[in-house]
Amino acid sequence: MTSSAELRDIAVTIAKRAATLAQQRRRDGVEIAASKSSVSDIVTRADREAEDLIRGALVAARPADGFFGEESGGDAGTSGLTWVVDPIDGTVNYAYGIPAYAVSIAVVEGDPDPTTWRTLAGAVVNPESGDVFAAAAGRGSTRNGQALRVNEGVELPLALVGTGFGYDAGVRRRQAEFVARLIGEVRDIRRIGSAALDLCALAAGRLDAYYERGLNPWDHAAGALVAREAGARVGGLDGGPEDGRLLLAAAPALYEALEPMVQEFFGAWE
Ligand code: IPD
Repeated sequence: MTSSAELRDIAVTIAKRAATLAQQRRRDGVEIAASKSSVSDIVTRADREAEDLIRGALVAARPADGFFGEESGGDAGTSGLTWVVDPIDGTVNYAYGIPAYAVSIAVVEGDPDPTTWRTLAGAVVNPESGDVFAAAAGRGSTRNGQALRVNEGVELPLALVGTGFGYDAGVRRRQAEFVARLIGEVRDIRRIGSAALDLCALAAGRLDAYYERGLNPWDHAAGALVAREAGARVGGLDGGPEDGRLLLAAAPALYEALEPMVQEFFGAWE
């Protein structure tokens, strides 16, 4: 059986190749290929090309594994493992040339459902900053080979909290209502524009907490493992696992401080 460290190394190698391709295409000029759930939810030609590269490389390296990607959907495998891929997380940043986008690749055991899967390994690569985040279950997480640790002992009023917004106007308005409540309780809020990088920023101590409603599995699969392996607690509603209804992540004590407010608001969201 392949170890989680070997799976991590495969994820890193392929994510780096896709990140180089995305960066090259960015320099050549971004081409919007289509919009998805709303006019602001875009897919670039580079998203598709990067996902094709990743898919092809995984088929060659791991032919029995399944695949679940943002742009090209899923393929069940026979090994019980599935690769969960966001070819460019932070697509709007990518389109505008803001250097906060990343390739995110995770490999999970079980069905490709974040409420039941077990993430074995992951990589998140930002080609613009040169950050290569990687994690293997039970073996910690790293940025460019250096071990990561979340900030411990941060009280709620001093917490720097990351979040994000969905693409639907009605959803965004409700998300903003919660930000309006939270901003008076914490040091400040950041909206970086890539959930994968937000979770890695938490792992690296560049944020103290992160939450978001409406994430897709590929947005958080790799980043959540990087955060967990750096000591973060990552969860969802009612003490359960993270899913599209909520992902909350922070060092355990700060998680407990944030949880009641987050739970009250997002738990009541039908
Ligand atoms: C988006 C980013 C963003 C988050 C959105 C995601 P995409 O992913 O992660 O930060 O707020 O919820 O959909 O569309 O850039 O792959």
